[in-house]
Amino acid sequence: MINILLLFITSLALFSCDFEGEKGTIAPTRDLLKGKKLYANHCAGCHQDQGEGLGKVYPPIKDSDYLKAHFADLPCIIRNGMDKKIIVNGEEFTYEMYGIKGIGDYEIAAICNYIAFTWQVGDGKIMTKKKVTKAIELCK
Ligand code: HEC
Repeated sequence: MINILLLFITSLALFSCDFEGEKGTIAPTRDLLKGKKLYANHCAGCHQDQGEGLGKVYPPIKDSDYLKAHFADLPCIIRNGMDKKIIVNGEEFTYEMYGIKGIGDYEIAAICNYIAFTWQVGDGKIMTKKKVTKAIELCK
C-alpha cells in the first residue's frame, strides 16, 4: 500500500515538473513519460530536447506552424519520414527526414501525445494506437 502511494506521489511530482503544458488539453498520463523518453531517443537528436530545432537543418517542433497545420500527418511523418521542401515559421527546410525505424504504433502514439501535450498542438484528444494504425494505413 505504501509503495503504491509512493509511486503515485512520485508520478505526480514527475508530471508537475516535466510537463509544462497548459491545463485543459490532454491530461497527463503514464503514456507521456514513455513518450518523453521516446522523443529523447528518436527525435531530440535532430529536433532538440526543447523542440527548438537546429538552425536551417532541422525544423522546430515547438511552436511550429507547419505541425499545427499538419498534426494529423504526424504518425505518417514519424513512420515514413518526409522529403520535400517545407516552410516552418517562415524558414525553408529541405533536408530529408528518414522514417523512424524500430518503433511500433503504440510508441508512435506515445510520441504524438507527448508532443501534443508539451507543445500544445493537435485537437486535444488522446492519440491511441488504433488511431495511429488507421492514420498510417492512409499515409500518402
Ligand atoms: C535525423 C534527423 C531527424 C530525426 C531523428 C527526426 N527528424 Fe523530424 N525532421 C527532420 C528534417 C530534416 C525535417 C524536414 C523534412 C523535409 O523538409 O522534408 C523534419 C521534419 C519534421 C516535422 C515537420 C516539420 C516541423 O518541424 O513541424 C515533424 C513534425 C517532425 N520532423 C517530427 C519528428 C519526430 C516526432 C521525430 C521522432 C519520432 C523526428 N521528427 C525525428 C529531421 C529529423
